[in-house]
Amino acid sequence: MEKYLVIHGPNLNLLGTREPEVYGTLTLNEINQKLMEMAEKYRVQLEIIQSNSEGEIIDFLHKNSNVKGIIINPAAYTHYSIAIYDAIKAVNLPTIEVHLSNVHAREDFRRQSVIAPACIGQISGFGFNSYLLALQALITQVS
Ligand code: DQA
Repeated sequence: MEKYLVIHGPNLNLLGTREPEVYGTLTLNEINQKLMEMAEKYRVQLEIIQSNSEGEIIDFLHKNSNVKGIIINPAAYTHYSIAIYDAIKAVNLPTIEVHLSNVHAREDFRRQSVIAPACIGQISGFGFNSYLLALQALITQVS
């Protein structure tokens, strides 16, 4: 079965209670559940992690470089982590950047993504559906 990675960056473990007017009311577990249901429908396998640490995200990318593609919400790292950008370039796998909120309609500093140039696309602003749209797009793109 084809395998994909889903990476949730810092503070996303607090979804459900973290600024629900911006990020919605679903918890991370509930979003992961929806992803797993979609994966089952498409008959693909998902490896999902959440980490508040840049190094752990990079290690996870290195250790799982045998997958078909990656969905990543780098959270605040989106805006400044050259190390995660380099790791995505290094593993050289189709990657989609995801955001729950529309980062282009928020503070100026959120408009800049240093990760996007390493990705095949970015999906931003559709709440938890951003992840589901990304999974659908990635599977379509890869197969
Ligand atoms: C986010 C947007 C980022 O700017 C922010 O730092 C996050 C979440 C989103 O999913 O909308 O933590 O990636």
